[in-house]
Amino acid sequence: MNKNSIRKAFSLMLVALFVSVVISAQAKKTVYILATGGTIAGQGATEVTAGYKAGAITVDELLSAVPEIKNIADIKAEQVANIGSQDMNDEVWLKLSKRVNELLSQSDVDGIVITHGTDTQEETAYFLNLTVKSDKPVILVGSMRPSTAISADGPRNIYNSVATAVAPESVGKGVMVVMDDKILGADDLAKTNTLSVGTFENPNYGPLGIVYNGKPIYTRQSVKRHTSNSEFDIMNLNQLPRVEIILSYSNATALFVDAAVKAHVKGIVTAGVGNGNLTTLMQNALEKAVKNHGIAVVRSSRIMTGPTAQWDEVDDDKLNFSASWFINPYRSRVLLMLALTKTKDYKEIQRMFSEY
Ligand code: DGL
Repeated sequence: MNKNSIRKAFSLMLVALFVSVVISAQAKKTVYILATGGTIAGQGATEVTAGYKAGAITVDELLSAVPEIKNIADIKAEQVANIGSQDMNDEVWLKLSKRVNELLSQSDVDGIVITHGTDTQEETAYFLNLTVKSDKPVILVGSMRPSTAISADGPRNIYNSVATAVAPESVGKGVMVVMDDKILGADDLAKTNTLSVGTFENPNYGPLGIVYNGKPIYTRQSVKRHTSNSEFDIMNLNQLPRVEIILSYSNATALFVDAAVKAHVKGIVTAGVGNGNLTTLMQNALEKAVKNHGIAVVRSSRIMTGPTAQWDEVDDDKLNFSASWFINPYRSRVLLMLALTKTKDYKEIQRMFSEY
């Protein structure tokens, strides 16, 4: 090989390298990470003790533990809140959902990952599932160990979430939670263990899939997912109707129903026994709450799986109650709050519970 052909080959190699760098840079999708706090942003006194403060480190500190995400996406980060999710509230929900809707309406944003405490993650995930009007991926992620712990699960969960958000097959799947290598649908999400890193399950329908070698593999579709044509619109709302959850158990009285009526709530979700059954005292008080105060009542169940079905031991139509079917009390509260932004008619509310 003479000098000229060596030079030619070398410049060709440089051009090829430059082109591949440009192509891979262009191919990277843009993912926004919206941080809200939780254990994933928690700091413990030592690497091994259990005590820690949730929501103690910022989103930039959090992401510095997973520099690998920059290889798979262009990352932009925003701090929306920094709280333990036991303090999650309507104000943050509305702010978060509005921001997600705004960002996803931009053509240069491909997906969102939201870091969140695990305690109320299922409620936030469901709220977004019903109020985000886009098919682009929205993933919630948390961790069960604080960022300072040995084997902190946060960095891996964040990496898997970003990998899921950029995958084309994640479009149109609804809001998802990615933790412990599992992909879970917001339609049937439950925290099932107070400490385990594998705490989240889809107890009725099973997980949507897994993340393997940094790629999502889907095994089912979310049955109820957010779409560009969701019937709920929160963009102009500054507050949500007040809905409380009341538990039933042996000997439960009308005490909490009466207190809710006095507090002028707009809706009550019951976490009943078995198929959403209630003590006679509670049921009579709820009947009066509907008839005399126009409060919407949805029967759900404290049992983790199976439907709270209409027309079983309770005649919902006679009492003007709605039954929650597969929606547990925590998600029922979210759906009833949104339903009440549109209607007070129990039949229309029942339609929503039967459809979602
Ligand atoms: N207080 C909890 C929360 O922020 C910490 C638990 C967690 O994030 O796993 O939800």
